[in-house]
Amino acid sequence: MTGPAEEPMKIIIDTDPGQDDAVALLLALASDRLDILGITAVAGNVPLPLTQKNVRIVCELAQKPGVKVFAGSRAPMNKPLITAEYLHGKSGLDGPVLPDPQMPLQPQHGVDFIVDTILREPPGDVTLCTLGPLTNIGLALQQAPQLSERIKQIVMMGGGLFEGGNVTPAAEFNIYVDPQAAQAVFASGIPIVMMPLDVTHKVLTTRQRVADIAQLGTPVARAVVEMLEFFERYDEEKYGTDGGPLHDPTVIAWLLKPDLFSGRYCNVEIETVSPLTEGMTVIDWWQVTDRPHNALVIGDVDADGFFKLLADHLARL
Ligand code: BDR
Ligand code: CA
Repeated sequence: MTGPAEEPMKIIIDTDPGQDDAVALLLALASDRLDILGITAVAGNVPLPLTQKNVRIVCELAQKPGVKVFAGSRAPMNKPLITAEYLHGKSGLDGPVLPDPQMPLQPQHGVDFIVDTILREPPGDVTLCTLGPLTNIGLALQQAPQLSERIKQIVMMGGGLFEGGNVTPAAEFNIYVDPQAAQAVFASGIPIVMMPLDVTHKVLTTRQRVADIAQLGTPVARAVVEMLEFFERYDEEKYGTDGGPLHDPTVIAWLLKPDLFSGRYCNVEIETVSPLTEGMTVIDWWQVTDRPHNALVIGDVDADGFFKLLADHLARL
């Protein structure tokens, strides 16, 4: 006997594509277990006009032009924008040649969409998946602090512990770009699942794994391979690894198959003042303080299981 079909999980994805964001979006768009209420773009890897366009390019690549895409914040809450063209290329999505999107950008501001949606949906229903700097979420919480009691959870890519940082010795890009927003999120009381560099550096796009995706032979698979071949170059050289880390899809993979991952509940605080360690995620992994746990910090992953999940989903598009 089978039980009643599970309702799809309601999610909003906040993102700054970015090739790894694009793969995360494709993974989510391929799943019938996720109800994507909307995708909000934020400035990060590249400026907002490109990130919002890239989200729509990816939706059309997945043949999902009906998804609602919103443009959010152009700049972090309290500092000038820092971008990462050195890693993602000028467009943010360098690698494949993909057509300009035809699907519309929604007229509403991304932050207003987040606020309205969370206030409209029943409390505890909506998960926020964040793949970029946390600006849109920080501003939404500033605008409507009561959101923190209504959001089911935030699953985020950001921060680092034993791996340190990737943009400064202490800080990971998403947190470094907008530490004030990250601080607001970690202080909000919303349940948080955090994918730091410690776990994303374990999902490497090795030659074999990219070949497995190529072997799917679809236009989506081809585009993904071209994105990964562009994107991994910089990190392969930097870390001396076979392939680069595929950060952002870990967020979606956690929703679809949490048993691929393991971690522990910790206190996480964000450094916002020190010029040397700005954007550092201070994670009490060894529980040496009595500061309250505010996040499930993921430390390990079954990387082969992760890439199998990804390939199985890409094959559906
Ligand atoms: C994060 O920064 C961006 O470059 C990636 O898209 C990812 O979200 C990794 O530090
Ligand atoms: Ca990203």
